Amino acid sequence: AQVQTIETEKVKKAKNMAFAFDIDGVLVHGDRLIPEGKRALEILNGDNELGIKIPHIFLTNGSGKPEKARCEQLSKILKNPVSTEQFIQSHTPMSALAEYYSTVLVVGGEGYKCREVAEQYGFKDIVVPNDIEERATSRPRDFSKVNIEAIMVYSDSRDYATDMQIIMDLLRSENGRLGTMAQDPVSQRIPIYFSQGDMLCPTEYWTPRMSQGTFRIGFEAMYKAVTGADLERVVYGKPELATYKYADEVITSWMEQLHGEEKLPENIYMVGDNPASDIIGGNMYGWNTCLVRTGVFQGGDNDENNPANFGVFANVLEAVQTALRKEL
Ligand code: G3P
Ligand code: MG
Repeated sequence: AQVQTIETEKVKKAKNMAFAFDIDGVLVHGDRLIPEGKRALEILNGDNELGIKIPHIFLTNGSGKPEKARCEQLSKILKNPVSTEQFIQSHTPMSALAEYYSTVLVVGGEGYKCREVAEQYGFKDIVVPNDIEERATSRPRDFSKVNIEAIMVYSDSRDYATDMQIIMDLLRSENGRLGTMAQDPVSQRIPIYFSQGDMLCPTEYWTPRMSQGTFRIGFEAMYKAVTGADLERVVYGKPELATYKYADEVITSWMEQLHGEEKLPENIYMVGDNPASDIIGGNMYGWNTCLVRTGVFQGGDNDENNPANFGVFANVLEAVQTALRKEL
């Protein structure tokens, strides 16, 4: 009976914890699996001494593909199921903006995938820079009759010059009508949103690549030099508070899926590789933070500016095992 009581206690504790995983630099490098990631997920998917599932979500600043397609791709790479209901990428919370804007400029990503993302979020009239440039593949249209209501940068720009020029033209126009120039650069300016602010992103390349944060900073400097005004903008993604709040909602409903109880666990562990995004955000939000050495972080004992409060680990498996040992 005593053994049984200990078991029930452990199950209770297991149901009171959850993990939030960063993806790039923790579970994968581009399309390449970080092997410890697969094992860590197997453990949480039930291959543990209790034989129960421990809730976990994926909280990534990644972008550029519809959620469903990205989850299918990740399931294959990680060899573990990844459901859209446990998945938040940088632009996922931006779906809420569809209620406020219908004609939008969507910037970034490869091909027309970000147009597809915006369509799935429910935006009615989606313009991409290519349409304005009138390239062979675009949808030709007379933009002197169109008011673009907002600019949303979803993913990394593949063509800084074109994207920056079009964003600049729109922000300086009268209420988003191309071919016009506002008298006052601020009062008639349309809003601009960025899906995340990371400077660097670990990929298959040997050293991290520049990400949306560098694009934004470059653009802000140009905007200030050209107009004399500061650019007001909204940034989503980690480490922004709104993203962590959104994550709480996703964890709560995922708990219901797994354990039939809609409840936010008390002990949440964030496993990330980027101190300036995963760790600072998790620390501010009261989560337990685990920094791994498989991505952006290359430092010593802990990050000097944003130390992980639960510790630094060689990889995600070590972080998960240590957290489970502590909680159960
Ligand atoms: O920096 C962009 C993005 O690829 C980072 O993704 O999973 O490390 O938040 P993640
Ligand atoms: Mg990362």
